[in-house]
Amino acid sequence: YTSLAGLGALGYLCGSWLSAITVCRLANVPDPRYQGSCNPGFSNVLRLYGRRLALVTLLLDMCKGMPALWLTKLMGWSPWAQGLVGLGVLLGHSYPLWYRFRGGKAVASAFGVLLVLAPLVALCCALCWVVLAWRVRTAAVASLASATLAPLLSFWLAPDYVLVIIGFALLVLVRHFWNILRLSRGMERPLTDHGRKGE
Ligand code: G3P
Repeated sequence: YTSLAGLGALGYLCGSWLSAITVCRLANVPDPRYQGSCNPGFSNVLRLYGRRLALVTLLLDMCKGMPALWLTKLMGWSPWAQGLVGLGVLLGHSYPLWYRFRGGKAVASAFGVLLVLAPLVALCCALCWVVLAWRVRTAAVASLASATLAPLLSFWLAPDYVLVIIGFALLVLVRHFWNILRLSRGMERPLTDHGRKGE
């Protein structure tokens, strides 16, 4: 239990690092928490500052929880213990210690966690996200659909992780509360819209 708490805390601390903020600071552009949708994540960085910075943000958010998760795998921990560490990463991204608990929507970090725990589920969700984002042009729609798809796919592709993946999906859905509200009012900004002030 001590090492589970330790690795869970490590996952939370790694997740608490919001790469969008560091990437934008290094690129000398304004903090994405105060621009566009105000979300410190790749979709907002993409709309505000283009593909290059968005891609770096995406990759870093995806990878930040992986070392903690690989350790759980190496130590042969049970799926639920691995899932708790993954949940720590997602909670860190959503409620980061370093940024007064105001974080992102945990889509990229959930994808990174899933890549380690249930790679096939992760790849199917990524495909779903890309196709929907391309067709509908709205990141939140792609994220909400992928978060709904993940638990359904896990029944078939990763049965040991169903419960933890349901937990991940619920967190991602909760973090999209304002997006869901904007979508229901037809006010959600498309991926090609650059920089109206949001929530
Ligand atoms: O991945 C985050 C996305 O689902 C929503 O982000 O910036 O469009 O609110 P945003």
